[in-house]
Amino acid sequence: MHADAVREGSPEQKLVLVFFGSPNQNGTTAALLHEFLKPFEGFARVETVDAYERNIAPCIACNVCAGEERCSQPDFDDIDALIRAADVIVVATPVYNLSLPAPLKAIFDRTQRYFAARFSLGIPNPVEKHKTAALLVTCGSRDCEGAQIISRQLKPAFSVINTAMEDMVVWPGTDFDGGRETLKKAQKSARDLALAIQCEL
Ligand SMILES: Cc1cc2nc3c(=O)[nH]c(=O)nc-3n(C[C@H](O)[C@H](O)[C@H](O)COP(=O)(O)O)c2cc1C
Repeated sequence: MHADAVREGSPEQKLVLVFFGSPNQNGTTAALLHEFLKPFEGFARVETVDAYERNIAPCIACNVCAGEERCSQPDFDDIDALIRAADVIVVATPVYNLSLPAPLKAIFDRTQRYFAARFSLGIPNPVEKHKTAALLVTCGSRDCEGAQIISRQLKPAFSVINTAMEDMVVWPGTDFDGGRETLKKAQKSARDLALAIQCEL
């Protein structure tokens, strides 16, 4: 799943940009994402940035973005274009050690360029188009502590890319019987959230 160069769609076609944080293409995170995306089929263009496949380099704190509106590392350029064009941002991720898996954390650390654009260069809205976000989290444990931490972690990054989080769906207990006990509730929450976002587009 590569983030292709931003293609021209019809002017009214909406763009849903997914950041996929699991190394498993057929795991619990993929299943939850699949359920969420159903209402968007035929309605919006969906582009997926697969964090493990892309293996984006971490931010190296070179501070170039504090002097010019750009990043010194070009591997994020197509993702930058997708972020600017997106109407909806979806982050679908498992919890790893109460946090984002490392390749996805690297992607969100790279939003430092927008933070610097706003606070060092004084550009009020470095990303002009407003977006709505959905956070989909799978947790092995039955508590949702990791999901809460991830939600907190993403807020500053969402803020500098002009994105408001609509809601979060958590599928807890996936390490117990494959999460069967909690699957139906998580699927319904994912569908409901997708429909709520779709209605606002
Ligand atoms: C390296 C690693 C760290 C994990 N850390 C946590 C954790 O801190 N909290 C938790 O609830 N689950 C943790 N898990 C469990 C995963 O979040 C859970 O199995 C998830 O459903 C996996 O998603 P996937 O099926 O898409 O791979 C961890 C799993 C791995 C592989």
